[in-house]
Amino acid sequence: MQRIGILLSGRGSNFIAIAEAIRQRRLPGAEIAVVLSNLPNAAGLEVARSLGLPALAIPSAGRKRAEHDAEMIAALHNHRVDMVCLAGYMRIISPEFVHAFPNRILNIHPSLLPAFPGLDVQAQALEYGAKVAGCTVHFVDEAVDHGAIILQRVVPVLDEDTPESLSARILVEEHIAYTEAIARVLSGEYHLLGRRYVLRNRP
Ligand code: GRF
Repeated sequence: MQRIGILLSGRGSNFIAIAEAIRQRRLPGAEIAVVLSNLPNAAGLEVARSLGLPALAIPSAGRKRAEHDAEMIAALHNHRVDMVCLAGYMRIISPEFVHAFPNRILNIHPSLLPAFPGLDVQAQALEYGAKVAGCTVHFVDEAVDHGAIILQRVVPVLDEDTPESLSARILVEEHIAYTEAIARVLSGEYHLLGRRYVLRNRP
C-alpha cells in the first residue's frame, strides 16, 4: 500500500475528492494514512474524522517554520507516509520538509502555472484578461508554486465571470486533476527530464 499524508488548512474539498476516489477504487494501492492541518479549526479535519481517518492539528501560529515543519515531518513518518499531498495547505514548507520526501510532495494550484503563482489567483487571471484559466498539479520544490508540472487542466474564462464563478469552474477540474496526478506518480511510469515530467517508454 502507498500511504498518502494530506496537509490542509481549509474546507478540504480536494482531500474529499481524493478520499472519494480511493473509496471508489480509482486509486488502487493507495490509502490515506493521516490528515494534518496547521489550523486546528480547519473544516477538513472534521471531515477526515467523520470518515474515520486519523486527523491531527499541529498548530503553526507563533511557531518557527523549522520547528513546526519538524513536527509535521515526524507525524508523517509516524504514520509511515510515502507521499504527501498539499491540498489547500496555506503555509510555505521549508527546504528540510521538501528534502524529507524527495519528489514525493505534490501540490495543487488554481492557475495555469507559471502564470499567477501565489494567492487570489482567479481574481488575478480575471484582472489580467486571461481567456483560459485552470489548475496545475506539480511536485513541490524549494520555491513556491514552482516544481515540475505533472498535469494541468484548462477551463474557459467567460465574460460574465466573477472570481467566485471562475474559482468554482476551476475547482471541478482540480478534483479530477489531483486524483489523476496521484495515480500517475504512484504508477512510477515517468521520468523527470529537468522540469519535464514525461511518460517512460515513449519517444
Ligand atoms: C484550492 O483551490 C487549491 O487549488 C488551493 O487551495 C484551494 C483548496 O481548496 N491550493 P480545498 O480546501 O481543497 O477545497
